[in-house]
Amino acid sequence: MKALLLSGGSGTRLRPITHTSAKQLVPVANKPVLFYGLEAIAESGVTEVGIIVGDTAEEIRQAVGDGSAFGLHVTYLPQEAPLGLAHAVLTAREFLGDDDFVMYLGDNFIVGGITALVDAFRAERPDARILLTKVPNPTAFGVAELDPAGRVIGLEEKPARPKSELALVGVYLFTPAVHEAVRAIQPSARGELEITDAIQWLIDTGRDVRSTTISGYWKDTGNVTDMLEVNRSVLETLERRIDGTVDDDSEIIGRVRIEPGAKVTGSRIVGPVVVGADTVITDSYVGPFTSIAGDCRIEDSEIEYSIMLRDSSMSGVRRVEASLIGRNVEVTPAPRKPAAHRFVLGDHSKVQIAS
Ligand code: DAU
Repeated sequence: MKALLLSGGSGTRLRPITHTSAKQLVPVANKPVLFYGLEAIAESGVTEVGIIVGDTAEEIRQAVGDGSAFGLHVTYLPQEAPLGLAHAVLTAREFLGDDDFVMYLGDNFIVGGITALVDAFRAERPDARILLTKVPNPTAFGVAELDPAGRVIGLEEKPARPKSELALVGVYLFTPAVHEAVRAIQPSARGELEITDAIQWLIDTGRDVRSTTISGYWKDTGNVTDMLEVNRSVLETLERRIDGTVDDDSEIIGRVRIEPGAKVTGSRIVGPVVVGADTVITDSYVGPFTSIAGDCRIEDSEIEYSIMLRDSSMSGVRRVEASLIGRNVEVTPAPRKPAAHRFVLGDHSKVQIAS
């Protein structure tokens, strides 16, 4: 069995954090989302992984390398353009050969991994197995319709009027039967070869398509609330580990990970919190469910339930909460007079001010 990990896409449908970089590399608890996918694949016993890459190929290659850090053997499969998930399967045809495979969308996050699914698929080998989960906003997903016995009878991509609240999760298990399906379908109204249509084709031609409904699922929808929530759930499992330096005037409470080279002085950190390598925290409070990436600086500030990405800083600011702060961002107080807010905000930014 092989894995096909989709990490292409042009970046046009993305929100502020991912304007300048691959959305699959957005960190959750200081680790790129894509790495959780790679770890889940490795844990399931699959070692041969093809990664579909697009415009952000270089960034993905730099982050993942040859896959050996994950115990995987990675082959990069450049896709000419983001022409759809089924097009990615066409692109990977040679790599996949006649093996069964698990297709994993690189921007999806599945709590609990995929090992049980892969094991069940190996044992049962239906033509395809899809994963479903209940979502509050099915119009943003592929949506499945099941018959009373729980069999999949119809799939629709981002329907205006969804027939259920069961969304397709971005993990699919296929036998080589899918190759005929991806060749048989036509591009959708949005101009993509949809995997949803390929699976519908399998159903229509009488193949055995089964589904599993899961909970504990997250997908990047540009939704900060979701991102903070998935960050929270991953931090829940954090173990205390202090590799950086903490001075005597600081207090570190609970499950806090301080990575090598990080320096905490005169501060109080209440876990679960992760502080990235070489980050400096001075005279500040960092509260629960916060991920501070590497090379950041927090000075005379208070922050909690937030994510701060690399190379950012905050000085003299209190209190920040439920916030997502991108890379190379600076947050400082405005001069006292006049009492005004001063912004330099990128496209799609969102700001809420306490005033
Ligand atoms: O996340 C689950 C949803 O993923 C499903 O519910 C939908 O049925 C499915 O079509 C897909 O929806 P999206 O339109 O949201 O997929 P997105 O364009 O975000 O692409 C998913 C991942 O695949 C992302 O990491 C980028 C990568 N990709 C996407 C396309 C279209 C590629 O590598 N190549 C592509 O051509």
